[in-house]
Amino acid sequence: MKIYLIGYMGSGKSTLGQDLASVFGVSWLDLDDEFELRYKVSISAFFEKYGETAFRELEHKVLADISQIPDLVVSTGGGLPCFHDNMKLMNQTGITVYLQALPELLISRIELSARKRPLFQQMKGENFLQKISVHLESREPFYSQAKIIIDAKKPDVEDLKKKILDYTSIIS
Ligand code: S3P
Repeated sequence: MKIYLIGYMGSGKSTLGQDLASVFGVSWLDLDDEFELRYKVSISAFFEKYGETAFRELEHKVLADISQIPDLVVSTGGGLPCFHDNMKLMNQTGITVYLQALPELLISRIELSARKRPLFQQMKGENFLQKISVHLESREPFYSQAKIIIDAKKPDVEDLKKKILDYTSIIS
């Protein structure tokens, strides 16, 4: 079984991904880490040098390869579902879980994190909360194509496991 965790920056995909992988007894993979390993460059340096369009193309290639691996929990980058028909690919090859959160919570979590996020940095400054809210809203049509949607505030891994098992029993 392959599970894709999707959601905005700061929604907790990496933390929950690791917990979920351990309750299912499968490996966990972070797509951003995989990108950096494969191309030997940090995402922020890549963005600076080549821009977002090039990033989205390579990000899609990494996803396409990962989508072939059978049993895995994958934590994806926040923008991945919104490009190159990636939602379709994920829904065809696994179970998608959207970690939904309000902009205020996302901002406070991103501020606390050490990870460098180029798009977040670009939005900083005046009307920050509004910019994040508009950006999140523009992504919602993609995120909401997920098969399971959970509240990212305090996710319960056992509860999510049950939702996933219920979902798989319905579709099989
Ligand atoms: C991005 C989110 C980042 C990373 C890149 C772009 C986005 O991943 O893929 O900086 O477009 O939201 P996280 O969601 O893990 O921060």
